[in-house]
Order: sequence, then C-alpha cells, then structure tokens
Amino acid sequence: MTELSWTPRPIIDHPICGENLALDPNFVFAAVLRDNPALHPRLRKLGAAIGGTPIIQLPHEPGGASIFGKAEFLNAFGTVKARPAFALVLDDLRRDAETPCCHRQYLSYGGATFHIALMGVVRAIGASLTLYSATFLTSEQHRLLESQGAKLALVDKNLGFYAIVEAAVAAAAKRPDLRFLYQHLDRPALDIHYDTTGNELAHQLSELVGQGYRVAALVASIGTGGTLIGIARRLKESAFPSLQVFATTPSEQPYADPAPPNGATKFAGSGGFGFSRRQPFVSVSEDLLAGHFTVSYPASLAASAEFAELTGLHIGTSAAANWMAARQLARLLPPEAAVICVLPSLAAETEAATAREELSAARSRTKCSVTSCGEFTSRDQVTTQEKQL
Ligand SMILES: Cc1ncc(COP(=O)(O)O)c(C=O)c1O
Repeated sequence: MTELSWTPRPIIDHPICGENLALDPNFVFAAVLRDNPALHPRLRKLGAAIGGTPIIQLPHEPGGASIFGKAEFLNAFGTVKARPAFALVLDDLRRDAETPCCHRQYLSYGGATFHIALMGVVRAIGASLTLYSATFLTSEQHRLLESQGAKLALVDKNLGFYAIVEAAVAAAAKRPDLRFLYQHLDRPALDIHYDTTGNELAHQLSELVGQGYRVAALVASIGTGGTLIGIARRLKESAFPSLQVFATTPSEQPYADPAPPNGATKFAGSGGFGFSRRQPFVSVSEDLLAGHFTVSYPASLAASAEFAELTGLHIGTSAAANWMAARQLARLLPPEAAVICVLPSLAAETEAATAREELSAARSRTKCSVTSCGEFTSRDQVTTQEKQL
C-alpha cells in the first residue's frame, strides 16, 4: 500500500487554475500534421525530428529490477521540451490558418531548454518571440537566444519560478496582440505527451512485456507536469492500469512546497512553485501518482557523473534525478520487473566538471562508491513517502 504525502487543496490566489483539464479528444498531434498539408514546410520537417524516441536500458543494482530510460534528449533541440514547444505553435496554426507566419508574434516563458526549443520552432516558421525567464539563464544561453532573435525579459531568480509565470501572464494581459503560449495550462502542452510520448511508451512497454518483463513503475520529473501526467494517463488507460507512477522534484523546493519560493539552484527544469501552489496538470491528476521523490541538486549532479562513468553518456540533472529514483525503486523489485524513467536532456558541457567534483565529494562522505552504497540515495539524497511498493 502506498500513502500520498499531501492532501489535495483547491488553488485560490492562482492565476493558473486547472480545474477543467480533461483531455482534448480533438488534439491528436499526428493527425494535425497529417490533415494540414499546408502547414509550413519547415515545421513539417521539424516535426519529423521530434518524437519517436527509443527506450534504452540503464544501469541498475544487481539482483534488482531492470531500468529503462525514454531517451528524450534525442528530440530536436536535445530536449523533451521540443514536444510541447512544437505542439503549442502547431495548435496556434491550427486555430488560425489565415495570419501569415511572419506576422505572428508569440509570448511565452520558462526555463532554458523550453526557450531553446520554442525559439527553434518559432524561427522555423519565421515568426517572432518574446520570452520571460529569470536570471538563472547562463550568459551563453542568453546570447544564443538573443542571437536567434528572441526578446528576453528576465525576472530575479530569487523570486522563484512562479514569478516568471506571473510576469508573463501580466505581460500577456497587457499585450493582446501577442499570442501567449501558456505551457502550464495550454492543453496541447499536456496532450502532446498523451498522444505521442505516452503512445510511444505504450508500444515500447508492450514489447518489454513480450520479452517477459513486468512493467512496474514509471518515474518523471515535474516542470509543468505535462510529461509525467500525459504519459501516466495514456499508460494507465491502456495496458498498464496498475503501473505505479512516481514524480521527482528538487528537495530545494518540492511539488506543493508550503515554503516561500526560493532562488536555490535545483535540478534542471523542475521545481515546486512555493506557497503550496501546484502545477495545474498535476493537481488535477494527483490520484494517478503513487508518490513523490525529492532529489537535491548536489545529489543529481553526483548521479549524472556516476551515470557518465558507467555509460559514457552525460545525462542532465533531471534525467539523473529520475534515474536515482528509478534505482531506488528497482532495488525493491524482483529481477523480472522493469522501472521506466524519462531522460529529458543531456548535461550542459559546463556541468560535467562540477558533477564529477560533486561525485567525488559524495564518495568521500560515504567512504564507498556510490553504486555499491545503498544508503547514498536512500539516506541522504532521495526521500520518498512510499512505505511499500
Ligand atoms: C531539463 C528538463 N527536464 C524536465 C522538464 C519537465 O518537463 P515538464 O514541463 O513536461 O514537466 C523540463 C521542463 O522544462 C526540463 O527543462
């Protein structure tokens, strides 16, 4: 039996409210592409480079369950966020086929990976983009986005991620001429994961079942929660109703954290809003979740370095956080079970050296190799409210 770590509460002082978020049966990503031959040719080309990512086997503890990762870093722009970026623009084109692309001015907000993907999609159709972000952007990301034509408005990172959302919502209210892409609330950002990521996984996991695995659990991080909830809904509605779905968020600011927002560095693309606010895609679907893991930024860095040692691949900190949680679950499960985790992106080059330092510091603290030291994740770095799988 599992216990949830929170009591769902209504959102009150919240400009984003997700109470009526049922899936949109009319938004079928592939069908939109197929049925709109007039879609911008460059967008069609880009669409072919998004989705259809493989699952790959990841390192796991001897004797425990196997772990498979959905390699979302293979999407165009190297990120899972290519899917919602593409879907949001595609949906705008679907709603209004008349306005020439070069007259479309978009407004959005988010973290670096979403910005880069969205800028790529917007550029492909020759439209313009204003982005709200925070001072956590590196100067390199800043330069890259500006060199591609993005107009950037930066909020102080110490105000937390929710302040970016508020700033963008306020700007959208003042500028109705801009097309606001509201990634925490616009349905295509969720439905794209149901229709594509979740659908792909449904097929891939059925193949695993055919090979004799019992697909037991899924782990994904919460940014908007689109990836986690879109996939979870699709899988639970199909052949995997009893799949146990787990979320990861940073220990520095977990999902639904009652504490005020903070500017601490967190694992990539994830985090609670603070003041008990909840991401709408998640708050309306909390019943799908078996539990939450929290992972600190240093632990996610160390896990990323350890993963690179074991495989040669430098996964990003959110992928590393998901892998840590998956490892913890896999330890509790028998060898025929499979745990699936999402690998949203690879590490930035600048992160690899910091990650290696963090790993060696963690090893000297625990006086053993992280892989062989079971307590490393369970005692200090990952906490879960799960009593039993
Ligand atoms: C690196 C990374 N991982 C994970 C996520 C989570 O994605 P979602 O918004 O679907 O929850 C994000 C979101 O920006 C991200 O940038």
